Amino acid sequence: MPGPIRHLYFHIPFCPKLCPYCCFYVEVGSKNRTTAFLDALLRDVEFAIAEYEVRPETIYFGGGTPSALTTAQLDYLFTGLRARLDLRDLVEWDLEANPATIREEKAHLLCTAGVTRLSLGVQSWDDALLATLGRTHDATQAERTYELLRSAGFTNLNVDLMFAVPGQTLAQWEATLEKTIALRPEHVSCYCLTYEEDTDYFRKLLGGTFVQNDERDAQLFETTMDTLTAAAFAHYEISNYAQPGRESRHNLAYWQGRDYLRFGPSAFSTVGLRRWKAVPDTAEYVRRIGIGESVTAFEEILTPAQRRGEMAAFGMRMAGGLPLTELAPWRTELEEFRELGFVEEWDAHLRLTRRGKLMADAVAETFV
Ligand SMILES: C[S@@+](CC[C@H](N)C(=O)[O-])C[C@H]1O[C@@H](n2cnc3c(N)ncnc32)[C@H](O)[C@@H]1O
Ligand code: SF4
Repeated sequence: MPGPIRHLYFHIPFCPKLCPYCCFYVEVGSKNRTTAFLDALLRDVEFAIAEYEVRPETIYFGGGTPSALTTAQLDYLFTGLRARLDLRDLVEWDLEANPATIREEKAHLLCTAGVTRLSLGVQSWDDALLATLGRTHDATQAERTYELLRSAGFTNLNVDLMFAVPGQTLAQWEATLEKTIALRPEHVSCYCLTYEEDTDYFRKLLGGTFVQNDERDAQLFETTMDTLTAAAFAHYEISNYAQPGRESRHNLAYWQGRDYLRFGPSAFSTVGLRRWKAVPDTAEYVRRIGIGESVTAFEEILTPAQRRGEMAAFGMRMAGGLPLTELAPWRTELEEFRELGFVEEWDAHLRLTRRGKLMADAVAETFV
């Protein structure tokens, strides 16, 4: 008998404005549709708890931009969830925020309502690059929001940054890292910009307006590792750095292959070997829930080998790597990576070397 589901994710698919590089399932929010959507989410939770034992240790509100919900909407959603869920075991409650969407009242509500960890989408502390990224905030506003969150009582803040942005220089990236370190967040996520299909950025790459430079991107990645580890952040996953004990519990659970339920359009859930995805259309999600119809658009039963492969792909992105015993099915391929200097043995584990961290995606592909 499987144990209770311990990890919940809520996809809030609304943003004030769509960023030209983003491929998450999002739309520009409107007040009327949002209320119906929140009711649908709460109803979806009721369906889930009728089917599974749910005792969350972590809850993550991602998007999209959950912080773009109004204070009243957030209050409504949180009150609804508290009424439906058994939160006795909850240790982490995350919420993703765009710096342009938080004022004092909202910061206060988030903190008093029980959100324990806030992830702030700063991306850069350079106004020119923020403009290139089409962000709705500048660096001053992002810093003001960061300080506002601290004053509201948040003791666990993550700053999201992006590197390999078109036109970004090494000096600009170093300045962004130094500025971040000076603020002392508990966690920093540094994502290498990905040109996702069907985005403006992708079209500009194809058209030659933007040019990729792998050498520069590798240099930016190495600078990230050196600068943040020198400032006592542990590089615990390829894109993630944390002060001791401040790793994201929710993301760790996901990377360690724990069961999780996700709610909202386009969200996919995994329980045991069953994986399913909700319909990627907010209006359709709301409509189906309203008439008690399943929102599942796609479902599959993974083979044990597929699931092991996925977990190995995530596990190898972690600093400690994986026990050698778990990697036996891929011994031949991994031996090649060892000879290339991408992986090394350490305490009966196999982990990425510094060089290997630059090739993490290629190594991960071995497993899936
Ligand atoms: C779903 S967003 C949540 C935060 C919020 N919506 C915002 O943008 O401020 C999570 C993070 O993913 C990263 N991200 C989004 N699109 C990306 C891309 N194409 N390449 C790399 N990182 C990306 C950004 O750092 C962003 O803060
Ligand atoms: S990056 Fe964040 S704010 Fe921008 S469109 Fe994507 S989810 Fe929305």
